[in-house]
Amino acid sequence: MITDESVERVREGADIVQIIGEHVKLRRSGNSYRGPCPFHQGTGPNFSVVPAKGLYHCFVCNESGDVFTYLQKRLGMDFPDAIRYVANKAGIVIEEVQRSAEAVDTRQPMWDLYAMVADWFRTQLWDERAGEAARNYLSFRRVTRDVADRFGLGFAPRDLDAMRNHLVALGVSEEVLLAAGLLVQREEGGALRPRFRDRLMFPIVDASGHHVAFGGRLLGPGEPKYLNSAESPVFTKGRVLYGLHMAKHAIRREGRVMLVEGYFDVVRLVSAGFEWVVAPLGTALTEDQAALLPRYAKQAFLLYDNDRPGLKATFKAGDRLLHERMSVQVVTLPEGEDPDSFVDKFGGEKLAEQLSDAVDIFERKLNELARNGYFAELHRKRVAIDKLLPTLRATADSVTRDIYIARASELSGVTREALEREVSQMSPRVSVSQAGRSPGPPPVEEEPIADRRSSGRRRPIAATPGIERSLVRILLHDRSHVEQVAEHIGPDELRDPALRDIYRALLSVPPDDSIEVVASRLEPESADLFSLLQREPIGEGEEVQGSLAGSIARIRRTAVQRKMDEITRAIRIASPEEQDVLISEKRRLMDDLAALGGGSFKSFDRARQT
Ligand code: UTP
Ligand code: MN
Repeated sequence: MITDESVERVREGADIVQIIGEHVKLRRSGNSYRGPCPFHQGTGPNFSVVPAKGLYHCFVCNESGDVFTYLQKRLGMDFPDAIRYVANKAGIVIEEVQRSAEAVDTRQPMWDLYAMVADWFRTQLWDERAGEAARNYLSFRRVTRDVADRFGLGFAPRDLDAMRNHLVALGVSEEVLLAAGLLVQREEGGALRPRFRDRLMFPIVDASGHHVAFGGRLLGPGEPKYLNSAESPVFTKGRVLYGLHMAKHAIRREGRVMLVEGYFDVVRLVSAGFEWVVAPLGTALTEDQAALLPRYAKQAFLLYDNDRPGLKATFKAGDRLLHERMSVQVVTLPEGEDPDSFVDKFGGEKLAEQLSDAVDIFERKLNELARNGYFAELHRKRVAIDKLLPTLRATADSVTRDIYIARASELSGVTREALEREVSQMSPRVSVSQAGRSPGPPPVEEEPIADRRSSGRRRPIAATPGIERSLVRILLHDRSHVEQVAEHIGPDELRDPALRDIYRALLSVPPDDSIEVVASRLEPESADLFSLLQREPIGEGEEVQGSLAGSIARIRRTAVQRKMDEITRAIRIASPEEQDVLISEKRRLMDDLAALGGGSFKSFDRARQT
């Protein structure tokens, strides 16, 4: 820590005219100096520097401050760096003290170890023989030596002993390597093996510059493609952003930060001149990661993959950043491209174009809903509002929230008052952590990106509702029932997307066509469930008829019930005329529900008997 006394000495000793004069052409005018303002890129002499006061001011854009704020705002330095910079210019020696006498951080040995290992990985990469395959991979990915060195990239060889031998020779014990997660032991008493083998290594450095972990990518195909260090006393995955240490000055200078999904995206963008970029480590952006950013910039650009999971991750990250009072823009890349491949193919200028076409996150969300027809009819309008509410609630900046509410009202036709009422009503589904940051540990993160990739983006099968599942399974094995069931249940009445899709495919294919025809009509996401259900034969004693009737009755009842709930909620946001329509619709549904009555589904039983 730099002592206050030193800060004052530096401030007094600083030659503000000389320092600013390095970037701005200043001319003396009385007691001050004048020049074009570097903050709003002015051309007239409206920018004034007053050496006696140690201050600058622009009469057009009103930017003002002292020599330190100038360096922070213009060059993206943080405060201590700005002090050191000025001290150096002025030849002033500053005193830095440990926060308290014996406050040597207990994490220091671990940081040192990770730095040492990063060094070793780097030597392996550039070792004539050991690193050849990895260097070939780097050139295949068009990463130059220069860029690799900037990121301290390395290579973890396949060899089982090389790293250990090297470190043990330097006095590091096997126990320490094991505790640090650099060696792993598969079973009690088993051999110690390196955690990372045959991988290109990305050292992970925290915002203060400590080496805390690694990410390693396989050079060829295989699983998992990326492997991160396990969490440790120095590393919590959800609290570190890859690249932040390097990017923070650029982020401050630019006043904006770009968020991408992967290591290679960061590497590629930085080498293309976009230095203000960071990435979470294979999970959705966490609250803690989002909270790191506003101290550097107020504006965030999200460049995630252009597919459904990517869009979902975008909106989730967006909510977290809005909660940090940041303004959030979304960049939509062409389908199939990530920032790395995009820049590799089309170059940095094209990415700059994409950035200038960025849309505000809320606008993007509205577009997405409108495109899917959500604002076209009353019930779905309610669903649309439900999808917008978490974002509106997350938006901490009240002016931004007002603007968002106005836009949502304009597009949906729901009044602002109704929307405001909904926003201020705590939804039961909003978690404590969304309502305000909880002091405790961050919530467990959702699916890692890795899982969602390797599993082909399907939903967990265990979560599919049992009744729908058993109904579809029976129909799959005996398609002669399909037509009758179809008289009672429309595909939209199934809640599970994959089951709904399979059911829809069954309906669309005549019963005599082969099952392959049905399979060919499926969305890729439901293919796995389809074959799983096919592999579950109908048991000998399984009571198909009763089970079908029971399933139909229950699915019908839940569907009607759900529709009634939807209407109840739609009434809250509807105009008086709309309310009349909705109320009579609700009455009709109540009659339907009464008619559906108890246990099994009579009309179906009868239909089968005749
Ligand atoms: P992607 O699968 O999109 O890979 O994962 P990528 O970044 O485009 O990687 P390349 O270009 O094929 O090398 C995005 C991020 O998710 C994490 C990593 O952080 C990765 O950069 N991830 C991915 C994992 O942690 N494990 C995996 O197995 C895969
Ligand atoms: Mn990629």
